[in-house]
Amino acid sequence: MVKVAVLVSGGGTNLQALIDAQAAGKLGCGKISLVVSSNAKAYALTRAEQAGIPSAVIRRKDYACGEDYDVALAKKLKEEGIQLVVLAGFLSILGPKFIDAYRDRIINIHPSLIPSFCGDGFYGLKVHEAALAYGVKVTGATVHFVNEITDGGSIILQKAVYVEEGDTPETLQRRVMEQAEWELLPKATAMLCDKIQEAE
Ligand code: GRF
Repeated sequence: MVKVAVLVSGGGTNLQALIDAQAAGKLGCGKISLVVSSNAKAYALTRAEQAGIPSAVIRRKDYACGEDYDVALAKKLKEEGIQLVVLAGFLSILGPKFIDAYRDRIINIHPSLIPSFCGDGFYGLKVHEAALAYGVKVTGATVHFVNEITDGGSIILQKAVYVEEGDTPETLQRRVMEQAEWELLPKATAMLCDKIQEAE
C-alpha cells in the first residue's frame, strides 16, 4: 500500500474522482490516507469526511512566511507516512522546502494541454478564458510532476478535449473536467503508486 495525500482548496471534484476510483479498485496500490485543505470552507473537506478520510486544514496565512508553511506541511505529511502528494485544485504556492521534501513525489492536474495556457496566473476559469480568447479548437488536461517552475515539471499524462461552438469558460471547464481531469488524475495516481510500491 502506498499512502497518498490529496491537497485541495475548493470544490474537490478531482478528489471525488480519486475517492470513486479507490472505491472501484482502480487506484492501484494507492490509498488516500489524508486530505489537506488550504481553505477551512472547502467543500472538498465534506467529501473527505463522507468518505471517512482524515483531513487537516493548513493555511498559508497562519504562518509568518512561505518557508514556515512549507516546513509545517511537509512535517504533517511525513508524520502521516505520506509517500505521494496529489495536488487537486490546490491554490497555495509550494516553495523549495516542500518540493525538496517530496522531490518527484508531487503531482498536479492542470486544465490545459501544457505548454499552452499554463504558468503563473493560469488557474481556474482563467485557463479556459485564455483558451477561448486564443481560439484554439482543442484543449485538454495535463498531469505533471511539480517542481520549482509553475506547471513546469515533466508531463505524466495528457488528454485532449474539443472546444465546441458557443463554449463559455464555464462549459469548457466542465467538459475538460468530465472528459479529461477526472479520468487522468486517478490513472496517473495509480500508475505512480504502483511504481513507488515496486521501487520500495
Ligand atoms: C481543476 O480544474 C483543476 O484542474 C485545477 O483546479 C480545478 C479544481 O477543481 N487545478 P476541483 O476542486 O477538483 O473541483
